[in-house]
Amino acid sequence: MRQRRITQQAFHRDRLEKYAEAMIETAHRTLAGWQAGDDRDIYDEMRQLALEIAAGCLFNADMRRVGSIVSEVCRTTASVFENQGSPMWIIDNLLPTPNHLRFRKAMRQLDKIIYDLVIDHQRRRSEFDDLLSMLLAARNETGAPSDIQQLRDELATIFFASHEAVALVLSWSCYLLARHPNVQSAVVAELEDVLEGRTSPCAADLPRLRYTGMVVREAMRLYPPNRSVGREALNDCEIGGYHVPAGTQVLMSQWIVHRDARYFDDPEDFKPARWTADFTERLPKYAYFPFGGGPRICIGQEFAVMEALLIVAAILRKFQLSLSGEQIVEPHPVVLLRPGKRIMIKLNDREGD
Ligand code: HEM
Repeated sequence: MRQRRITQQAFHRDRLEKYAEAMIETAHRTLAGWQAGDDRDIYDEMRQLALEIAAGCLFNADMRRVGSIVSEVCRTTASVFENQGSPMWIIDNLLPTPNHLRFRKAMRQLDKIIYDLVIDHQRRRSEFDDLLSMLLAARNETGAPSDIQQLRDELATIFFASHEAVALVLSWSCYLLARHPNVQSAVVAELEDVLEGRTSPCAADLPRLRYTGMVVREAMRLYPPNRSVGREALNDCEIGGYHVPAGTQVLMSQWIVHRDARYFDDPEDFKPARWTADFTERLPKYAYFPFGGGPRICIGQEFAVMEALLIVAAILRKFQLSLSGEQIVEPHPVVLLRPGKRIMIKLNDREGD
C-alpha cells in the first residue's frame, strides 16, 4: 500500500497533461521515420514507442540506445513461460538448461538496465521530479530508504507494466482497424471534426474523441493484454455455489468474460459502436475488467488509455492502415496476450493527401 501510494502520485491529473505532450512528441518522432508504402511490424514498432514514452515520462530516461536489448529481454522472459504447463518448467528452474541460462542472462541484462537508471538518476537527482525520484526518496516505516532489492523489484514491475501492455493494445487496435476499413474511416472522420485542421491531438481533445475511445475499449475487450488475474483465498468462502478453501488460487479470465454472450451481443465481432453511454452503464461491474479491479487495480490505466488514444489518433491522422497480405493473427497467451505471429501493417497515403 505504501509503494502504491507513492507510485500513484506520478499519475495525478496535472502530470498526465504533461505526459500527453511527451507522448505526442515521441509519437511524431517515430512517425517521421514512417513512409507511405512501408510494411511495418506493428508490435515491434509499438513496443519501442511505448518504451520510449514510459521511460521518458516516468524515469526521465532515453531508452533508444537500449531498446533492442529490452525487446530481447521481454522476448526471452516471456518465452520461458511457454513451458509453464509442462515438466520442463521445473527442470528449467532447477538445472542449467539452455532455457535456464537464457533466462538468467536476460535477468542480468534487465538488472543492469535498471541499476544504470538508478545510478544515472542519483547522479542528477536534483534535476528531476519523476516517478523514479519519488521511489528513491521514499522511506519505510522506520525512516530508512527502501532496500536496493525492493527498489529493483518495484522498478522491474513498473518497467514492464508501463510499456508492454500499452504496446499490445496499440498493436491489436491497429490490426483491428486495418481489418475494418469502415471503422477506420469513422475514426478519421471524428479526428477531422475534433482537430479542425491540426495534425496533432492534445490532452484537451480526449473527451471529444468518443468514437476513438470506443475503438480502444473494444480492442481491449477482444484482446485484453492481461488475459487473467489471480487471487489467493485468505479464508474459506463460497463463490457462485462453489466451495473455495483458504489457500486456493482463483483465476479470473478477462479473455473468457469479455467474450461472454450474456454481456456482449455477437461477442466475437469487433463492434466499437456497442460502447454507448447507456450500454456502459448497464454492463455488470466485472463483465469488462481489462485493468483488473479492487485494491490492486492497475495504477496506470488513465496513462495507458490516454497514450493509446493519442497514438491511434496520431497514426490515423497521417496514414491509412491495411494489412500486408491476407493475414489472420491469432493471439498467443504467454504472460500477456501477444500476437502469435508478426502483424505486418501496410502504410498508405490518406486519400486526397
Ligand atoms: C493497456 C495497458 C495496461 C493494462 C491492460 C494493464 C492491466 C493491469 C492489470 C489487469 C493489473 C492488475 C493485476 C492484478 O489485479 O493482479 C495491473 C496492475 C498494475 N499496473 Fe497495469 N496495465 C496497463 C498499463 C499500465 C501502465 C501504463 C502502468 C504504469 C506504470 C501500469 C502499472 C501497473 C502496476 C504498478 C500494477 C500493480 C498494482 C498493484 O499490484 O497494486 N499498468 N495492470
